[in-house]
Amino acid sequence: MNSVQQAYNSWAQQYDSNENKTRDLEARSLRETLAPLSFERCLEIGCGTGKNTVWLMEKAASVTAVDLSEEMLGKARAKITAAHVQFVQADITQPWSFAATQFDLVGFSLVLEHIEQLSPVLKKAADALKPGGYLYISELHPFKQYNGSKARFETETGTQVVTCFNHHISDFMDAAKANGLQLLSLTEYFDEDDRTTIPRLLTLLFQKK
Ligand SMILES: C[S@@+](CC[C@H](N)C(=O)[O-])C[C@H]1O[C@@H](n2cnc3c(N)ncnc32)[C@H](O)[C@@H]1O
Repeated sequence: MNSVQQAYNSWAQQYDSNENKTRDLEARSLRETLAPLSFERCLEIGCGTGKNTVWLMEKAASVTAVDLSEEMLGKARAKITAAHVQFVQADITQPWSFAATQFDLVGFSLVLEHIEQLSPVLKKAADALKPGGYLYISELHPFKQYNGSKARFETETGTQVVTCFNHHISDFMDAAKANGLQLLSLTEYFDEDDRTTIPRLLTLLFQKK
């Protein structure tokens, strides 16, 4: 078991109840970005405890929700029993056996900071998309990361910081372009919508050509 999996297995017990501005702002980002779009088959990568699965399942005819952590998935499974939602435990740095058919939407919410090599994962996402399908990415803004912010939570023995990697905006753009993905929108989300502060989230929406 790798350290990210271990960390989320431990964080799962408190993930939904901790104060977490990034988690909550991303829920808003996803809903605002995807509300105008139509999609039937959705692949949600890093679904965690199902914060976004509950919304995606109302829009889509089917949702495949994937996560590395059994404990995070356990929380999601306890909330969602709908037959059109399939949960899969998998490491997305390995082959995507869960993506045998193609999707209209692939979404990453707060996952890619835990992935060292962006390009191979975005290639798999592009391969999993139908032509015209959408790729949604929302991550802790790189500017926040430059200032030292990382996914972290409190334990009885102190603060646990989850292994994170810095991806620059150009890294996302280059990896997407190399895989035939065209940028539709780039949005920055700020705490309390205060645009004089460092943005908390970077949200990117791409479309497969
Ligand atoms: C910060 S949580 C985000 C959960 C959810 N998307 C949300 O926005 O609340 C990151 C999630 O990514 C998952 N994750 C991290 N690395 C992964 C990998 N290599 N494969 C699959 N899931 C991974 C973790 O287990 C965790 O549930």
